[in-house]
Amino acid sequence: MARRETLVDIGRKVKAGTRLVMVTAYDYPSARLAEEAGVDLILVGDSIGTTVFGEADTLGVTLDDIVRHAGVVVRATTRPLIVADLPFLTYQESPEQALRSAGRLMQEARVQAVKLEGGRRSAGQIRRLTEAGIPVMGHIGFTPQSVYELGGFRVQGRGTGADALVEDAAAVEEAGAFALVLEMVPGPLAERITTRLSIPTIGIGAGPRTTGQVLVFHDLVGLTLGHQPRFAKRFADAATVIRDGLQAFAEAVRAGTYPGPEHTFDDDPAASAHGAN
Ligand code: KIV
Repeated sequence: MARRETLVDIGRKVKAGTRLVMVTAYDYPSARLAEEAGVDLILVGDSIGTTVFGEADTLGVTLDDIVRHAGVVVRATTRPLIVADLPFLTYQESPEQALRSAGRLMQEARVQAVKLEGGRRSAGQIRRLTEAGIPVMGHIGFTPQSVYELGGFRVQGRGTGADALVEDAAAVEEAGAFALVLEMVPGPLAERITTRLSIPTIGIGAGPRTTGQVLVFHDLVGLTLGHQPRFAKRFADAATVIRDGLQAFAEAVRAGTYPGPEHTFDDDPAASAHGAN
């Protein structure tokens, strides 16, 4: 039977030069499909706020939301390493708050790692969690929980901002994170950070020279109905498949062709007695 990926497995893959594949998932079918596709890691991201809840940003996502959805994703899978996001204001207050929040994700949802945003400003939190034995994935560059501080969905680290991001990356590694997400940073800067760190980098809108890549499930399968970021390639058109299915259902009901005899139960008591449908 397949066993779940561990940090040791991830480390071995990186050492062997294998590029890491991570995707977000928030529910049972998406997690099952991601596992069947052979991804290494699944992120139960706070992007659930925009992709599933239809909100303008991720700030309204609660720890209860992530605990609930991460538990579903863990239950749906046996092999990928499951990482859950710490939502806005569930760790920023103090390292102890971070420990309490991450503890819930580990104990109640049974994820294997947590992710939090921020470089030097989050180093104390990362250190506290890793000292307690909780694997942490960092996240710098464009950090969606700071969207209003950053002035919108903007590329980070261009020009004079580059050195600050390199320092942030070093602080995350030094604090004990096992991997680092680089979101919306110029390709050459992502390469510079990746070369400098000994932990793997996972890019999203960060060019091809990171150790791995992550995309948001809805963006990559074509279920994002509003704005799709330029870096997020659509690898499938699930919206069209689903819309066609729904239209076919509506047409069949209106035409009286569904349900047919094969979808209709008879009233034979013997069928019920044998437990047959
Ligand atoms: O919540 C999320 O989906 C993320 C990815 C964009 C990395 O943090």
